[in-house]
Amino acid sequence: MQTIEIMEKTFDSESNDIALYLAMSKKAEDEGQTEIATYLFNVAMDEAAHAAQFATLLGKVKDTRTNLVTMLDGEIRAEKDKAHAVKVAFAEGNQEVSRFFEKSMHDETRHKEGIKKILSKLQEKD
Ligand SMILES: [Fe+2]
Ligand SMILES: [Fe+2]
Repeated sequence: MQTIEIMEKTFDSESNDIALYLAMSKKAEDEGQTEIATYLFNVAMDEAAHAAQFATLLGKVKDTRTNLVTMLDGEIRAEKDKAHAVKVAFAEGNQEVSRFFEKSMHDETRHKEGIKKILSKLQEKD
């Protein structure tokens, strides 16, 4: 049981590290430190591989149809949450963040539509 708890925590921290390393890689690139940027990017990919393996070991990955249905729910939720966040950030005067919430909301919409399309294509095959 303790192992599972540690695996869940590890999955979360590895997932967190992917984003941090990617952001830091981008920063290094902006500073013209291309070698460091590449190194940080590669570390991010290692962390992604670790997180993916823990996701699998934890049983978070099912058959493809089930995975897509699960992620569709997540994308629908993410889209709604972002739409709310756009308004909150705007009301608090944080235009830059509000705009980025809006951009990422559109990405979530695109993810949602893409998954829906794949699911309906899978349905046609049945
Ligand atoms: Fe790691
Ligand atoms: Fe998404």
